[in-house]
Amino acid sequence: MFNIGSYEERVKDFSWSIAEKELDYKDGDVINIGWYCTDRICQQGKADKLALIWEGKGGKEKRYTFNDARLAANTFGQFLRDQGVKPGERVCLFMDKIPELYFSFLGVLKMGAIAQPLFSAFGDESLKVRLDNSEATTIITQKKHVSKVRRILADMSYMKHVIMVDYDGRSPLREREVAFDLESATPVEDFTCEPTFAETPSVLHYTSGTTGQPKGVKHVHYSLISQYLTSKWVLDLQDDDIYWCTADPGWVTGTSYGIIGPWSLGVTQCVLDRGFSAEEWYRFIEKHRVSMWYSAPTAIRSLMKAGDELVTKHDMKCLRMLASVGEPLNSEAVIWSEKVFGLPFLDTYWQTETGSMMICNYPGMKVKPGSMAKPFPGITAAVVDSDTYEEITEPGQIGLIGFRPGWPAMMRTYWGNEETYKSKFKNGWYIPGDRATIDKEGYFWFVGRDDDVINTGGHLVSPFEVESALLEHEAVAESAVVSKPDVVNMEVVKAFVVLKAGFDPTDELELKIMNFIRKKLSPLAMPQETEYVKNLPKTRSGKIMRRLLHAQEWGEEIGDTSTLENEDD
Ligand code: PRX
Repeated sequence: MFNIGSYEERVKDFSWSIAEKELDYKDGDVINIGWYCTDRICQQGKADKLALIWEGKGGKEKRYTFNDARLAANTFGQFLRDQGVKPGERVCLFMDKIPELYFSFLGVLKMGAIAQPLFSAFGDESLKVRLDNSEATTIITQKKHVSKVRRILADMSYMKHVIMVDYDGRSPLREREVAFDLESATPVEDFTCEPTFAETPSVLHYTSGTTGQPKGVKHVHYSLISQYLTSKWVLDLQDDDIYWCTADPGWVTGTSYGIIGPWSLGVTQCVLDRGFSAEEWYRFIEKHRVSMWYSAPTAIRSLMKAGDELVTKHDMKCLRMLASVGEPLNSEAVIWSEKVFGLPFLDTYWQTETGSMMICNYPGMKVKPGSMAKPFPGITAAVVDSDTYEEITEPGQIGLIGFRPGWPAMMRTYWGNEETYKSKFKNGWYIPGDRATIDKEGYFWFVGRDDDVINTGGHLVSPFEVESALLEHEAVAESAVVSKPDVVNMEVVKAFVVLKAGFDPTDELELKIMNFIRKKLSPLAMPQETEYVKNLPKTRSGKIMRRLLHAQEWGEEIGDTSTLENEDD
């Protein structure tokens, strides 16, 4: 029997108080995610149950019980307090998927600060703009990443503490740096959590839009209510599950469902801190007897590419549930997974901003390969007209996805950018910026994004951010960045570059430009192709028309070009 029981029945009498009751929470009570994920689970008699099975590079393995997790979070929390970090301050977590990342996340929440996880592969510029925006007072990092912090620290007067979790004493610590070693620190048994409430900020995740700098999505402790219940009903997490969420906590999936969801349910999870390899992934599942696996379409397509035979070399019978998020899950991937694992990947649709799953396939419900299926109980979702924002009731018509605001994990604002936050609401709907259709049976089908943001391998890339990095190179006069099709990543980044006079469009120059921007951006945002052009299509008001370049790359109709300036060129 699945946790959700009957989807239709759940929809009929749904209230978020179901989760509140299960979590013993009443309106106005203290609610702290860090406490819920550790202390409460220990109090329920699961102190000795495994919380984390971790594998790192070189086959290193570590195991932590829920009591270990509780102590580690306490020890981080206390250390931050001792440093003088105050509730409400932003603490950036800039680490690989090491155990310290998971426990410091909970420690930050326990002491009432706001966790700002950032993907450890970010280059200097990507890191700096996100820190400048949040004005984080503290960054927790590793030796291997500290050089990036050091290069930008001089311009960051707000940053008071740079905490290194693996300092080896080989070179002296610099100004503002301090070492903290979880393994040798005295575990803090008694820690009084900051009494945080439903609306106390918890996590700040950065996400990219088409224009402007990345936006800091502010979440609050009450998000737990949605994350707990969706983990229970969609991922169907049960007490004896071994769960593997492949996402990095630098992204929202890695926190909502790679920390908060499973641990608030007291479920054991695995983490693999290594690059992708199909062979490795199957070995990992087999070795740890993973039963519930939450991944992403690009990874699934990469596994498909590695072939069916590889799957048969491993015992995959431990798997009982598969789910996916981050980009469109094509029907071929669902059909393939049914063939090789005997289970479909259940597609789930949501965003950094929504904080928890919104439109999902549910265990026990009919899967239509290629469809995101139906809104989570309690979520009012529709497809709305892009001009009037009125609901489109006719099945099959394309429109913008719209959600009625009010679920617990919804973002509360964009950090320091209330105006953009407000612009996401139209006619009473929150508009996530994606297009979809709904069929006669109420199933949602993803059509595409409604902006120029590129979704490569499940990671959103702002064309603006890449263009800005390109423009900083001395040879680049203008640039436009769009997506182009890709078999595995669905889409990848392509850059069009207009050179300044005096520079020749050579391969050597391209390499120099790429090396220049590599230091600034995340590897995910790097263009896979660069094309030199003499000029870029622009509107009469001078705005670059990425739409045209996009259409050219995807072999689509170019559409209305009446506003085009250099139409006759
Ligand atoms: O365009 C949608 C796409 O990813 C966007 C959200 O990206 P992000 O905030 O980084 O969060 C990703 C993980 C929650 C959405 O606006 N997206 C996400 N899930 C799906 C999807 N597109 C199609 N199908 C999905 N299941």
